[in-house]
Amino acid sequence: MPTILAIETSCDETAAAVVQDGTRILSNVVASQAAKHAQFGGVFPEVASRMHVEVIYPVVQQALAEAQLPLARMDAIAVTRGPGLPGSLVVGLNMAKGLALGSGLPFIGVNHLEGHVYSLWLVEDTPPVRFPVLILIVSGGHTELILMTDHGAYTRLGGTLDDAAGEAFDKVGRLLGLPYPGGPAIENAARAGNPTTHKFPRAWLEDTWNFSFSGLKTAVLYEVKKQRPGVPFSAELETPLDPAQVPDLAASFQAALVDVLVGKTVKAAGHFGVTEIFVAGGVSANRALKAEFERQATCPVRVPPLRLCTDNAAMIAAAANFRFLNGQRDQLNLDALPNWRLV
Ligand code: KG4
Ligand code: ZN
Repeated sequence: MPTILAIETSCDETAAAVVQDGTRILSNVVASQAAKHAQFGGVFPEVASRMHVEVIYPVVQQALAEAQLPLARMDAIAVTRGPGLPGSLVVGLNMAKGLALGSGLPFIGVNHLEGHVYSLWLVEDTPPVRFPVLILIVSGGHTELILMTDHGAYTRLGGTLDDAAGEAFDKVGRLLGLPYPGGPAIENAARAGNPTTHKFPRAWLEDTWNFSFSGLKTAVLYEVKKQRPGVPFSAELETPLDPAQVPDLAASFQAALVDVLVGKTVKAAGHFGVTEIFVAGGVSANRALKAEFERQATCPVRVPPLRLCTDNAAMIAAAANFRFLNGQRDQLNLDALPNWRLV
């Protein structure tokens, strides 16, 4: 029953966690920088790396303290190697290398997307997974549809050709004058809105398992322009929309995006005859997405508990667990891979 300390710093959360057996969370500490980045309207990479440096040590200390275990009781140290922001990844990697060097413990580099996949395993007493399963990863940086046939065995069916789903939420949130991150803000605003008010386009990209959200984003932009006639381009960001318009725009945008994500994923699940659909990544926190999956799916759909949808280190430990059991041991000269693909 391995006990793994994992560190995650790929974007704007500084996180450390201790997980036993890939399923039992002993601690899961996340220091979010979102409030800081909100003032820039998005993640500011240099600020992110500096903030990681400031809090990484106390965050790791807290994860060990909450788990009530010293470093010496760990079986391995795991860390996110990529994909992510280079300057941010390096902070986590260096911390993990230092701990591994000092303790002599095995060191394991993990793919952040594989971490999101394994967030689905972080529930005790869940029914065992029967492969193949279809994985929809929807985060701020990625939208990927993946067939998983065994632990660590993935086939990529498709992904976004332009914006990731979370990125579309964030950009449209900005267009609507909502705070960063746009996903939760749009979900909240949409609750008071009518999703059928605006007929925004759905890019089905038939005969492929790919997605595209840039047309949808542009359609929202034109609708916003229409509702604020006479505002020059240079003043658009500073000129707020009439707040009364925001809920319908948010609900109609969310409905269009959710329609395509769910429709294509459910179709792929039928086509490939999977036993289950797994949804992971920040956007899987969205309640409209979960509700639509429940309405359309013809097989069970698993979504992580809310606090495990967005970035955290417990999911990195869960992915590292099966790699540890498979014998993966990395050298301490392991480099960051900012564009590392899962498959
Ligand atoms: O997985 P994640 O924490 O970080 C990346 O690996 O990118 O995902 C962050 C993304 C952001 O774009 C954020 O707007 C989106 O997840 N997000 C949501 C919700 N909560 C977070 N999108 C829609 N609805 C939500 N409730
Ligand atoms: Zn993520």
